[in-house]
Amino acid sequence: MTRDLFARRFTARLPADIPRDWLPSSPAIAALLNTYTVLVPANEAFYMRTINACLPRIADPALRATAIAFIHQEAEHGVAHKRYWRNLDRQGYRFRTFERWVDKLTFRAIERIAPLSLRVSMVSCVEHVNAYFAHEFLSQRILEGAHPEVRALVEWHFAEEIEHKRVSFDVMQAVTPSYAVRFAGLAMTLPLFYGLMTFGMMRFLLQDKRLFRWSIWRQFLDHLGPRNHMLLRTLKHMIAYARPSFHPSQLDDAALAEAVIDRYSSRAQNWLEPANRGRAAAKQPLAA
Ligand SMILES: [Fe+2]
Ligand SMILES: [Fe+2]
Repeated sequence: MTRDLFARRFTARLPADIPRDWLPSSPAIAALLNTYTVLVPANEAFYMRTINACLPRIADPALRATAIAFIHQEAEHGVAHKRYWRNLDRQGYRFRTFERWVDKLTFRAIERIAPLSLRVSMVSCVEHVNAYFAHEFLSQRILEGAHPEVRALVEWHFAEEIEHKRVSFDVMQAVTPSYAVRFAGLAMTLPLFYGLMTFGMMRFLLQDKRLFRWSIWRQFLDHLGPRNHMLLRTLKHMIAYARPSFHPSQLDDAALAEAVIDRYSSRAQNWLEPANRGRAAAKQPLAA
């Protein structure tokens, strides 16, 4: 049985002494996920504005309610990742100008020039990327050995990406069922997402004075190849999305997400609580 979709707040304290090397096994993945943390607030605010603009066009009340719960979950993700920005500041990283320019030149610019149908298609595609990132990182336990609070921040977020992965796809189908629009969203989103993530990762590694170290790239190549097979797995997930018959529910990994949510809600850690702002939309069932 699928759980109800509702927003949770990430309440773990993020200690001031979290080190730059919060994932000792792979500084490159840490740099990649630092970039994710920097991009999440503006990126997910773009999803929220887009899905919000779609609400009047959704006829099914259950899907509309689920879309509202989705917006509340994404809002909490933005708040939690932005909290970690203070840690990035303390660690001596510079990223705020980069973040402002990305927001201005990508999300705000897209909003001005692209029609809603294309915007929701882009959101659906990037949510698929979020969901397969989540699937791979959680199922392969890639963050084992990471600093516990940072691991919890990322893994809680990933678990909720799996939990709500069908919502933006279903909203896109309700607003614009055209395959051509879905494919256009795919073609625009993937280069943008991977371009920004790679550029951001390189900026963090440069600030670490590690950009030109072979050992760092060797670890990252292991992540793409023999250790985590991320290159092939990513291609497989992208091809799946391009199939006309694709639906996010075809990969059933709800139990993976539930296990992570249960771990971080347990008495031992207790780092998640229902979010107040989600109260009105809480306990809305996922649309079938
Ligand atoms: Fe999110
Ligand atoms: Fe999401």
